[in-house]
Amino acid sequence: MKRIGVFTSGGDAPGMNACIRAVVRGACYHGIEVYGIRRGYSGMIAGDLYKMESHSVSNIVQRGGTILKSARSKEFMTPEGRKTAYENLQAAGIEGLVAIGGNGTFTGAMIFGNEYGIPTVGAPGTIDNDLYGTDYTIGFDTAVNTALDAIDRIRDTASSHDRIFFIEVMGRDSGYIAVQSGIAGGAELVMVPEVLTPISEVVETLKQGWSRSKSSSIIIVAEGDDEGSAQEVAEKIKGQVDENADIRVTTLGHTQRGGPPSAYDRILASRLGLGALEGLMGGQKNVMAGIINNELVYTPFEDTIRLPKPINEDLLRMVKILSV
Ligand code: F6P
Repeated sequence: MKRIGVFTSGGDAPGMNACIRAVVRGACYHGIEVYGIRRGYSGMIAGDLYKMESHSVSNIVQRGGTILKSARSKEFMTPEGRKTAYENLQAAGIEGLVAIGGNGTFTGAMIFGNEYGIPTVGAPGTIDNDLYGTDYTIGFDTAVNTALDAIDRIRDTASSHDRIFFIEVMGRDSGYIAVQSGIAGGAELVMVPEVLTPISEVVETLKQGWSRSKSSSIIIVAEGDDEGSAQEVAEKIKGQVDENADIRVTTLGHTQRGGPPSAYDRILASRLGLGALEGLMGGQKNVMAGIINNELVYTPFEDTIRLPKPINEDLLRMVKILSV
């Protein structure tokens, strides 16, 4: 393999730049040419590629976001879009791809690989940590720490005013950020999409805290929870805890997607970027590089897309025990 392409796609995640850097520097080390594709599949269709050198990735290991930019491409979901993308890659002499992204990115890569035979190896980049085939995804650790920083600040003001706060964290289909930031932030309860927490249980938990004169209560709600958004959950419990209960809602939103990556994410991203590149060189295709029990492993896209990554329910149990 003489020339490869690298791109980021889907929601950005802190550490994507460290991953791009590892791919580019690894390719330079191994004597392979590497082209950066801007805006993921959209750039592939538009032919927006440029040759990257070692210096192209100087001073980015510490930066959030992605220098290659990211997008969710509707056009790539059409056969015409993929055909144009293939023709552009052919014209540029690109023989393999490293795709940095999540579920949607790998679904696109799998379909593309099956249609046109271009080998792709993925590196898991998403704050949600919802991919089967790796213990952690790039950006998750930073997002948890960002959420935690906000939770700690809210706890200060919550206890000054004896308030109940509902804090919404990201995770469309996944409660990983909610569980980890909730444990670290001493939350009274964590609500996640994977396990239903009925409103009656939320009310009961808050009532118990109220009767023991807890100075504050914090409930973390993952955005994809079945009971609704943090705002909706707060509306549902209104008047059921105590008529004097003072309730506030904070949605952390995209703050969780930005900021400098943690040391953990930089190291993880470097390992996964180099692992993806070296996997591609070694003949891997249609697989995602991941780290399980500190070992580099490759999992077929089909499995990373199809298989669920269950939440550790013991951690949810722990939240309840520790908030008594
Ligand atoms: O998949 C990562 C993620 O941050 C989810 O947690 C969230 O639901 C979604 O992306 C938000 O996407 P967008 O940036 O398109 O609003």
